Amino acid sequence: MASLKKILALVVLIECTILTESSRLLEKKKKKNDGYGDNIFNVVNFGAIGDGLKDDSKGFKDAWDAACGSSASSPAVVVPQGKTFLLQPLTFNGRCNSNNITFQIDGKLIAPSEPSAWECKRNCHHWIGFKNLDGLSIQGSGTINGQGSKWWKLYCKDYNTGCQLRKPTGFLIANSKNVEISGLTFEDSPKMHIAFESSTSIHASHLRIKAPGNSPNTDGIHIQRSTNVTIHNTTIQTGDDCTSIGDGSKYIDIRNIECGPGHGISIGSLGIMGKTETVEFVHVKNVSFYGTTNGVRIKTWQGGHGYARNIKFERITSYASTRPIVIDQFYCPHKHCKNQTSAVEISNVVYEEIHGTSHKEIAVQLSCSESTPCKNITMKNINLRNEDQNDKTLSHCLNAHGLRNGRVHPNVPCLRFDDNF
Ligand SMILES: *[C@@H]1O[C@H](CO)[C@@H](O)[C@H](O)[C@H]1NC(C)=O
Ligand SMILES: *[C@@H]1O[C@H](CO)[C@@H](O)[C@H](O)[C@H]1NC(C)=O
Ligand SMILES: *[C@@H]1O[C@H](CO)[C@@H](O)[C@H](O)[C@H]1NC(C)=O
Ligand SMILES: *[C@@H]1O[C@H](CO)[C@@H](O)[C@H](O)[C@H]1NC(C)=O
Ligand SMILES: *[C@@H]1O[C@H](CO)[C@@H](O)[C@H](O)[C@H]1NC(C)=O
Ligand SMILES: *[C@@H]1O[C@H](CO)[C@@H](O)[C@H](O)[C@H]1NC(C)=O
Repeated sequence: MASLKKILALVVLIECTILTESSRLLEKKKKKNDGYGDNIFNVVNFGAIGDGLKDDSKGFKDAWDAACGSSASSPAVVVPQGKTFLLQPLTFNGRCNSNNITFQIDGKLIAPSEPSAWECKRNCHHWIGFKNLDGLSIQGSGTINGQGSKWWKLYCKDYNTGCQLRKPTGFLIANSKNVEISGLTFEDSPKMHIAFESSTSIHASHLRIKAPGNSPNTDGIHIQRSTNVTIHNTTIQTGDDCTSIGDGSKYIDIRNIECGPGHGISIGSLGIMGKTETVEFVHVKNVSFYGTTNGVRIKTWQGGHGYARNIKFERITSYASTRPIVIDQFYCPHKHCKNQTSAVEISNVVYEEIHGTSHKEIAVQLSCSESTPCKNITMKNINLRNEDQNDKTLSHCLNAHGLRNGRVHPNVPCLRFDDNF
């Protein structure tokens, strides 16, 4: 008898739960049904306030979960314009029902301005992340501001010995494919603004990325272990590389970019601490560099393995960048490096139609190691003048081999003249 009562009580309890759950869903459905239709998930309807003060993370997470779980064929999370949303570190995870989700950002997103107010404290990997997605478009006229200025002042004297500080990447797309990201403005990230990691077919265009020229490690877009990535029609003004192309990247197309201030477009650094790292099939076309420290650069550490190959830089204009063309197989930002017998191999690199001015006298620097010379480097139609009209430009060559054709100024005598290409 007692057990029957118990079972009855349980049934009633379950029914009540089901009832409240379904009325909650109904309520949610009503809320989101704000004139757009059933596929729109406006963060405001999920509790986000947008006053720039209250933590809106939950509203975003709930809107995402609803969109991701929705049976609509093209669900869209909407972040309305005219509001500022404060977000703690947040990851939007995939395996969603739809493979055509839109994340429409027209408002402003901000991170907590005090590093101590970040919920991950001194060990934050990223601020906003998208993971495990297939078929996502992140778009809109909104701004994503990492409020990094207080992070920039924190640093460890030596990153290798017991330093517990990890600065967060602003915006991460990882383990995903078929992602488009366009129209947005990114500002003041604590570290790099955008990172694409372990992803395939990621297409970025019409972005603006902006941070002070002296902000440390604020790369514009970093690519790592990713295939088929395009970055088009984008302006990047930061304190580090405009784009950096790291290990495991291939089929990368970077086009119509305005870069500077910053450190230029870099492949690498590759081969740190003896690692085997690879980059191949990179095409950089129609890029202007404004007062950057480097223009197009390939940098590798001594002692590494692997390769950087099949790389083409074309239609590059330098406006007083310090060194427009650099290959550096002795990369060492901290002065404690030793020369070693192995190095990441650099080969099949094309420079074509590279014009403008250089801030330093040495406009072209090809520094390759004796054990692993750079092979098949070709230059065609290069004209780099000194920013100061009265000074000439020079090249520096060490263990670099290949061909040159057409006018190549400054002369790069380590490349053999050949007019057959
Ligand atoms: C994907 O979603 C967008 C925006 O909702 C829509 O314009 C487009 O037609 C959809 N594409 C497909 C293949 O469903
Ligand atoms: C690269 O991405 C584009 C667009 O998403 C796609 O059409 C193309 O097939 C992809 N190429 C490769 C090699 O994956
Ligand atoms: C980038 O701009 C060029 C020139 O205006 C245009 O032809 C091209 O379609 C644009 N690319 C993208 C991906 O929007
Ligand atoms: C080259 O890039 C610039 C932006 O830096 C763009 O305005 C121009 O249209 C591009 N040229 C071509 C031919 O796409
Ligand atoms: C490594 O070798 C290069 C080229 O010979 C030289 O310029 C550089 O000073 C060497 N570095 C060290 C730390 O010995
Ligand atoms: C040299 O590099 C070019 C451009 O990447 C490539 O087409 C060519 O096959 C390479 N030549 C050799 C001998 O590897």
